[in-house]
Amino acid sequence: MDGNGRWAQARGLPRTDGHTEGEENLARLVRIAVRADVGWLTVFGFSTENWIRPRPEVRHILGLHERLFGRVAELNELNVRIQWMGRPFDTPDARTPKYVQRAIRKAIRDTAANTGMVLTVAFDYGSRAEILHAARQARVGGQALTVASLGAHLYVPELPPVDVVVRTSGERRVSNFMLWQSQGAAISFTAKPWPEFDAEGLHTALSLVRG
Ligand code: FPP
Repeated sequence: MDGNGRWAQARGLPRTDGHTEGEENLARLVRIAVRADVGWLTVFGFSTENWIRPRPEVRHILGLHERLFGRVAELNELNVRIQWMGRPFDTPDARTPKYVQRAIRKAIRDTAANTGMVLTVAFDYGSRAEILHAARQARVGGQALTVASLGAHLYVPELPPVDVVVRTSGERRVSNFMLWQSQGAAISFTAKPWPEFDAEGLHTALSLVRG
């Protein structure tokens, strides 16, 4: 969800306002995606590299995640099941604070019965960390390292292969996001910053894979 900071700066607002608007836009986009019959929507909320941002910005983003995971009534109304992926809370490098852990656990529990779209939020997530974790888990289990055995130990093994990756705000590089799962995926580039990514942007992305 790139471009929150730039969206705010272009309006003379603090970067944190851009993140707040980014969270609002995610709520809008979830509705749009459900209407478009998207089965799986996965968003990069906070990366393993984002912890080095200024403390007040990190605190603000953590608060937004707590709020997002608290929007259970909305998710239930939309029949959306929430998932989370990131460094498991009990591993040495994990950094998710307790109050966000609680919000994540509760949201997963309270939406578990929903049968519609699965919204997965990547928080304290990095693809390299995920692949390393999966390889170590497979080794601990004494399994031969294969595509299947490693894939079975990814953070959320039920996630299907990625159909299309959306890159907002003019970013044209590959980021540390779902590298294993997005082999062969289409990429949809847009100059719009995340707070302005809308139904048109989603339909453009979907047209790359739905024909
Ligand atoms: C990128 O914008 C966004 C983030 C680092 C994460 C924060 C995302 C949100 C708060 C959106 C809401 C999502 C959730 C799951 C609550 P940036 O800061 O890199 O902006 P820039 O690219 O303009 O610098």
